[in-house]
Amino acid sequence: MRTDTGQIVHLADYRPTDFVLERVDLTFELDPRATRLESRLIFHRREGVDAKAPLVLDGDELTLTELRLDQNELPAGQYDLSPSSLVIRDLPETAPFEVTVITTINPEENTQLMGLYRTNGVYCTQCEAEGFRRITYFPDRPDVLAPFTVTIIADKAANPVLLSNGNFLGGGNYDEGRHFAAWFDPFPKPSYLFALVAGDLGVVEDTFTTMSDREVKLKIYVEHGKEARASYAMDALKRSMKWDEEVFGREYDLDIFMIVAVSDFNMGAMENKGLNVFNDKYVLADPETATDQDYANIEAIIAHEYFHNWTGNRITCRDWFQLCLKEGLTVFRDHEFSADQRSRSVKRIAEVRHLKAEQFPEDSGPLAHPVRPTTYREINNFYTTTVYEKGSEVTRMIATILGRDGFKKGMDLYFERHDGDAATVEDFVKSFEDANGRDLSQFSLWYHQAGTPLVTASTSYDAAAKTFELSLEQAIPATPGQPNKQPMHIPLSFALIADNGSLVNAASVSGGEVTGDVLHLTERQQSFTFSGVGSRPVLSLNRSFSAPINLDFKQSADDLVQIARHDTDLFARWQALTDLALPNLLQAARDAREGKETVCEKAFINALLEAAADETLEPAFRAQALALPSENDVARELGGNNDPDAIHSGRQAILKQIAKAGAEVFGKLFESMKTQGTFTPDAASAGKRALRNSALGYLALLDGGAERAASAFAAADNMTDMVHALTVLAHRFPDDAKTAEALGAFLKRFEANALVLDKWFAIQATIPGASALSRVKALLEDPHYAPNNPNRVRSLVGSFAFANPTGFHRADGEGYRFLASQIIGIDPRNPQLAARILTSMRSWRSMESVRANHARSALVEIERTPSLSTDVRDLIERMLK
Ligand code: ARG
Ligand code: ZN
Repeated sequence: MRTDTGQIVHLADYRPTDFVLERVDLTFELDPRATRLESRLIFHRREGVDAKAPLVLDGDELTLTELRLDQNELPAGQYDLSPSSLVIRDLPETAPFEVTVITTINPEENTQLMGLYRTNGVYCTQCEAEGFRRITYFPDRPDVLAPFTVTIIADKAANPVLLSNGNFLGGGNYDEGRHFAAWFDPFPKPSYLFALVAGDLGVVEDTFTTMSDREVKLKIYVEHGKEARASYAMDALKRSMKWDEEVFGREYDLDIFMIVAVSDFNMGAMENKGLNVFNDKYVLADPETATDQDYANIEAIIAHEYFHNWTGNRITCRDWFQLCLKEGLTVFRDHEFSADQRSRSVKRIAEVRHLKAEQFPEDSGPLAHPVRPTTYREINNFYTTTVYEKGSEVTRMIATILGRDGFKKGMDLYFERHDGDAATVEDFVKSFEDANGRDLSQFSLWYHQAGTPLVTASTSYDAAAKTFELSLEQAIPATPGQPNKQPMHIPLSFALIADNGSLVNAASVSGGEVTGDVLHLTERQQSFTFSGVGSRPVLSLNRSFSAPINLDFKQSADDLVQIARHDTDLFARWQALTDLALPNLLQAARDAREGKETVCEKAFINALLEAAADETLEPAFRAQALALPSENDVARELGGNNDPDAIHSGRQAILKQIAKAGAEVFGKLFESMKTQGTFTPDAASAGKRALRNSALGYLALLDGGAERAASAFAAADNMTDMVHALTVLAHRFPDDAKTAEALGAFLKRFEANALVLDKWFAIQATIPGASALSRVKALLEDPHYAPNNPNRVRSLVGSFAFANPTGFHRADGEGYRFLASQIIGIDPRNPQLAARILTSMRSWRSMESVRANHARSALVEIERTPSLSTDVRDLIERMLK
């Protein structure tokens, strides 16, 4: 494998290639251990480039067997081979020339799952970001685009299915029991969008008629026997295609669109042109085996990869620094899609929860980086929640600032100008500026400055003058390499709420730009004055989370209750309930640390129970309200010197008090929210299940909780209810015989289903408390554990490190030592998987000092390991800096 050779790459060093690639013609002869690839590349020298400049091709772990220039074998003196490149000299000055490269690769031994590899006997590829160089020598960078012709030759019995990008050209029998298939992709594409799949797979077929009346074949390939579980994914695909036509005016372009689900995959999915490859977790679902969350994820990821066809493929990235150009934008598009398919406010709440849980910690720790970074050592480490989720938030703010129509005009201009290009973030922003005649230069700082802005707000009301004043101040914390920050353009959606709950319209506002219900904070300090306000209003600020900021606004419990009751923005109501909950959870953590009893404020409990029982509110919203801020949320709010045990027991104490006060409400909800009849995964039914299950979570804290959870488990007739009941049972009563019995029954029933087994591992890995570690270690030895399957590793080791604060952050540091040994073991096989799990340590400095010291030693132990991958070394060094 390639160990750390990582040079730092700088955005400022970008320059186009010396040679233009005109066409690519690939012929694969597949063999599990010795696949032969003949690659024919036609190039010409770019105008103005020095006639002596050599052609430089990237490579990684390749065996070169033949090299020809215009069909003649190349003399050894005309090229140089290194482990990472092939350099060819003395090439024609102006005329196009053809380079033929023949390489041999070993897919079976490719445990990194980058390039061409085998998963359950199926050949598949993953090329983003730099995997194509593991298949052949090539200018493996996103600004080199060409049409590809691909011929695949393989044993027919073992590989009846032969797929690549584009449209099917033809196929037939070959020699010795082999057959072939040829594909042509007319849309010039970079190598990272290349895909090949071959094997014996089942297929589900459908069609979609586009807005200009072309019929597109849709095919989803899965392992035999799993076809029925692909129907929801197919449905989501058709809805995505329709939505992109209606909302963004984007039509699909090839004759066929294919998705392949594989069981060994490092990430969620990949948008290869016309041939998306998916982690099967994001394709396969049925009521018996998939939770509502699984269905929602499938819908979102199918949409995400499909939407990439325009935002990513038709318009791609000039270089990897521009990754957010396709990822942030495409996440924004999939968020909007899900919001339209489901409940917009509930979707927004879930998005913000995720953003705060994942991106905010990244942005405030050693791995913080701008949405558009300017340096990297290992690009795989930049597929981050900052690039994806904060990148999406930045796109959302453009839409907020320009309004719906202005945003659409900008998107249309972007598509018109850049279709077929490898573009930059500057190109994207400029399209919005030009389409709207608006200067977005200050706004662009969102791409360039890392760190979550802190906005401090205070208000005052002058009854005599009938004015209401809002004073705002912004500060952007220092982040690695960026000690000083400029003030940013922060769009803050707001409402003024009167005593009777109605929204107040001020006669006028001064102090800065206000458009509709959005205040534009652009100065470091700025005051807005609302005039003609007859009585003191309650201010609801950053509604819908219009800006991804931390807001420090000390509002009274009464004001928060007013917002929680009356705001017309449901997100703001949820936010107010969260703001009421947090001080109680923080105090409870402090009390627990000092061994004191904690008392939860009545005002908060009442507001929460009022929302829970309010039948005018959709059940999914009520469930979100009842899911209090998590232990990790509380840790983030505390900001440092964290003791996860105190946070956990404080939070449990609060939950118990809510359960006691709300026993009746929860009992009723548990009965009334039962969904009747056959299971449907729609948002409304899912919302009812979510509310019923959160009621169960509280009821389980009361006397007889174990019995309740066990009988809910026994009665469950779908995976959502089953997983929830089992989690409640295992997490609250880990040592109860009923838990062992339920876990055993679950295993027995679903033993053959890998995706359900992942849930079984994750539930046990997240049982709170110091004993989690011995449980996790025992599970590593379980015959069902699969150390080479990324999903399984993430479900056991990943869930433990990311989602079990008391178990992982044990005061004696054993959790950290365990993680270090896992990382050291996984890294040589699969560096991307190791690196991803290692990011669970990104907030180690916020732990109290005993734990922080243990964490540092564990990181140092990894650092001392010889021949670490670039992926892991890059993270370790940034985390220890
Ligand atoms: N582009 C893929 C997506 O749709 C993800 C690729 C991730 N690649 C990586 N090297 N981590 O988001
Ligand atoms: Zn993506």
